[in-house]
Amino acid sequence: MNTHKQNTIDSPSHTLEVAFKAAFDELGLAPDTPVVLTEATKPEFGDFQVNGVMGAAKKLKQNPRQLAEQVIDIIKPRLQDMVSTLEIAGPGFINIKLDDEYLANHLLQLNSGSILLNKNNNTETIVVDMSGPNLAKEMHVGHLRSTIIGDAIARIYEYLGYKVIRQNHVGDWGTQFGMLVTYLSEQPGFKNFGQDGFASELPFISSLEECYRAAKICFDTDSGFADSARRNVFILQNWQSEGELGKQMSGYWSMFCEISLRHCQEIYNKLGVKLIENDVKGESFYNDKLQQIVNTLNAKHLITQSEGAKCIFFKDDELGEGTCETTPLIIQKQDGGFLYSTTDLAAVDYRVRTLNADKIIYVVDARQSLHFKQIFCVAKKAGFATKLDTTDAILEHCGFGTMMDEGGKPFKTRTGGTVKLIDLINEAVIRAKLIINERHPAWSQSDMSYLANKLAIAAIKYADLSKNRNSDYIFNLDKMLAFDGNTAPYLLYAYTRICSIIKKFEQTHNNHNIGNTQQLVITEQIEHKLAVHLAKFTDTVHIAASECYPHYICQYLYNLAGLFMQFYEECPVIKVESEIIQQSRLEIIKMTQKILKTGLVELLGIEIVDKM
Ligand code: ARG
Repeated sequence: MNTHKQNTIDSPSHTLEVAFKAAFDELGLAPDTPVVLTEATKPEFGDFQVNGVMGAAKKLKQNPRQLAEQVIDIIKPRLQDMVSTLEIAGPGFINIKLDDEYLANHLLQLNSGSILLNKNNNTETIVVDMSGPNLAKEMHVGHLRSTIIGDAIARIYEYLGYKVIRQNHVGDWGTQFGMLVTYLSEQPGFKNFGQDGFASELPFISSLEECYRAAKICFDTDSGFADSARRNVFILQNWQSEGELGKQMSGYWSMFCEISLRHCQEIYNKLGVKLIENDVKGESFYNDKLQQIVNTLNAKHLITQSEGAKCIFFKDDELGEGTCETTPLIIQKQDGGFLYSTTDLAAVDYRVRTLNADKIIYVVDARQSLHFKQIFCVAKKAGFATKLDTTDAILEHCGFGTMMDEGGKPFKTRTGGTVKLIDLINEAVIRAKLIINERHPAWSQSDMSYLANKLAIAAIKYADLSKNRNSDYIFNLDKMLAFDGNTAPYLLYAYTRICSIIKKFEQTHNNHNIGNTQQLVITEQIEHKLAVHLAKFTDTVHIAASECYPHYICQYLYNLAGLFMQFYEECPVIKVESEIIQQSRLEIIKMTQKILKTGLVELLGIEIVDKM
């Protein structure tokens, strides 16, 4: 699926790419010769640079500068309205600078109406598998990245006009429930296990979590307890055929899940993440579909019995280049129990055939990479990924690194436990309050609290989103709350500044004719740079979507804010004589404001504030 092709107003880079490609074809270069259009590496090189000629010349054993000349001869007359400079540099680069008038018209076109970006007329459905905490425990930092990155990816696709379905694949069917029931049934306070009143004693996630922790210790140290917990899981997973006990078990299970999910929902709301109850399709949802999955695999002769278990083995390279994998995927245990993998195969089937997914993006810890390679491979072979039109849905694991502490170790509490998400958020709020207090000691408590909450959430989210998701990431509250650097406070502050510039202008100019200009005039170098950057917004969103890289958006916005500050310093708005230039600059400021807001709010899910 190419998210790029369906723009109706082409971005400058897309227009250039098409023009160069045509020239390459006319010169008889191989059809797969890439144009390699990049941003110019230095300002004196212009705005863009084409590097593909050198590779092509090398293949043809031609002089690259000569070939570049031929390309330019073809292209120059065609691009004469669009580029002001088109020249060969070094061994055969082609440097390109956009024409200011073209740029001005392009921006006006983009800005007309509310169209900043041409949304695709996409009918494709994208399923985003995100968050997926294991229930019965409080959400911990491990789920933060999946939740935040998943939400941004979903928002980016939504913004581009795709139909997005979020799926929260919660772990609600595992051993933890058997442990909990076993543990609670042994507590003196819970003698009346199985009777009403039990539920009212456990209304909060924190007590559930405490019980879980105690139960886990028993499970790990007491084999009798462990057996009983396993028996209870079995009863739960087969509750319909387990009579009264099954019914009871299923009742407790619903209660545990309800408490847990309520807690998760609170966190999602706090984080401003678009996940709702309806998005929850946990492991239990697939329970009655698992036998059918195994039957299908069996019928397709994909299953090998190994030590009593039903396994799927992989041939060399089958899981991707260079992956010689001897670890099989186990889909059913000797005792008949199904596994995480069986559920994930059923989930592919459901998402492709019932939700009509054209693409499923799994925002899950990179350490599950082998699991997903295996799942995708089996799903395709067994036909679970086959769409109605008989092609396969795209299955993509969008992995992310581990959250580390300052010392480069996985993030833990002082006592070595997992850090609860809620504690982390609360701590960020306290720190944010200190910072605000220092900046605005005269602010009211309520103003301070309001901003501290917004700032803390924004900082946590932005810090996560702004890093390449593949790397491990060091959690540092001070850095993420700093007002300088690539941080949420910096961007939010830039946004409030832009708003106040516009407001000030409106006040001094009696709201007269603001922002309806039909003409942009780009004269200064920094104006040109800012304009080129504004024109790249569309491309940035498309690339961020196709590579599932929200950090591209962050980097774009950070650069936008930087260019804007420079522009505002060098190009006066209020004190400029020509009214045309004044209107034009004001319009550029408004476009910057619009894009900054769209990027933060709509694409990244970060709320803006009006003062800070
Ligand atoms: N519950 C899993 C975990 O905490 C994550 C689920 C990810 N999604 C999936 N379809 N497997 O590791």
